[in-house]
Amino acid sequence: MTETVIRQVRVGDGREPVTITIRHGRIAEIGADRGAHGQVVDGAGGLVVPALVDPHIHLDAVLTEGFPAPNRSGTLLEGIERWSQRKPYLTEDDICRRAEEVIRWHMAHGVLNIRSHVDICDPHLTALRALLKVREAIQAVVTLQLVAFPQDGIYCFPDGPELLEEAIRLGADVVGGIPHYEWTREDGLRELELAFGLARKYGRPLDIHCDETDDDQSRFLETVANLTRQNGLGGRVTASHATALASYNDPYAFKLIRMVKAAGVHIVANPLDNIVLQGRFDTYRKRRGMTRVKELLAEGVTVAAGHDSVMDPWYPLGSGNQWFVASMLAHIGQLTGSDELPAAWQAVTTAGARVMQLRDYGVAEGMRADLAIYDVPGPADLIRLMPLPRWVLAAGQVVAHTPPANSTVWWHGVPQTVSFFRS
Ligand code: FE2
Repeated sequence: MTETVIRQVRVGDGREPVTITIRHGRIAEIGADRGAHGQVVDGAGGLVVPALVDPHIHLDAVLTEGFPAPNRSGTLLEGIERWSQRKPYLTEDDICRRAEEVIRWHMAHGVLNIRSHVDICDPHLTALRALLKVREAIQAVVTLQLVAFPQDGIYCFPDGPELLEEAIRLGADVVGGIPHYEWTREDGLRELELAFGLARKYGRPLDIHCDETDDDQSRFLETVANLTRQNGLGGRVTASHATALASYNDPYAFKLIRMVKAAGVHIVANPLDNIVLQGRFDTYRKRRGMTRVKELLAEGVTVAAGHDSVMDPWYPLGSGNQWFVASMLAHIGQLTGSDELPAAWQAVTTAGARVMQLRDYGVAEGMRADLAIYDVPGPADLIRLMPLPRWVLAAGQVVAHTPPANSTVWWHGVPQTVSFFRS
């Protein structure tokens, strides 16, 4: 079927419902209803947005919380320890099954673009081999990018440099890193030089786990920015987490944020994990741990937000709902000013698309028809209610549907429907 017509949907700030005509997987027309020659979707007056983006998750680790042992302290370091204990049990089938389960959760939430870090500190690269299969199996519906991610470091793990390069040769889309985890600052710098060298050699973008610590002496983001500038890779480099930026002194943070902007480095904040994992060495006052989102945005830096974990050794909660992530970003980052709140929904849509360098993204004629339709008046309600979409379409084909659920309360004994919208 090459044509889909979506009737009765609102686009952007528009109040009047329109019709979207999709041909050959792309939005052909927004506006007039010229009749249907294929699949018809009733938008029921809902708001249509581009399919959501999760620019940072670890699909190899999802749904592993509790086995072989739970993370009793809830800390980052115990999480890494528990993950190391889990690794000997990993098989390709196990990873494929768990990853596909969570991808289905993402799809139900309207997320069709996912960048997953994959732990390559494994002589067999089991997780990468599994996720390469998943990427291929779902490519018609979900854009899945895989980052070669050295969870246990490059220079403090046997054959780290060779494994990183082998992962890229096998087909990882993005070069990863974790410089703050190396034993010394010097090794962290060497790791970044290696990662940028491989990115140049194989023509890949980079996404570095950068300064995910409360240590204000962890200063690898400045090197990421500098190497990005020197290599002319602006727009192709992402620093993920960057939580230490929240702990730097203000004059240094001011200078650094300007460097990040000038170099064209994108930032991915991961508010769910970092609000629970950071500040663990603090008594009171406890740091929030998330990077300086408001200040980065004020400088014009692209800031996206990732789910990071779903029920894994670092974060035992989560369901693949990127509106929950956006909501947490807004809360922790205090983005509740009327001019600031849009950054929260952009973090899981357009900003995420910039991080993943997605082409043809958006609700506009000519764009790929990857869409989610919600029963809400406006985008702020997506942050407030974190709803499931009524319809999700990939290249114009329905791939997820959630029937609307209404609540009834008995108000003084009389049943009334509760909509959660201002009347
Ligand atoms: Fe991460």
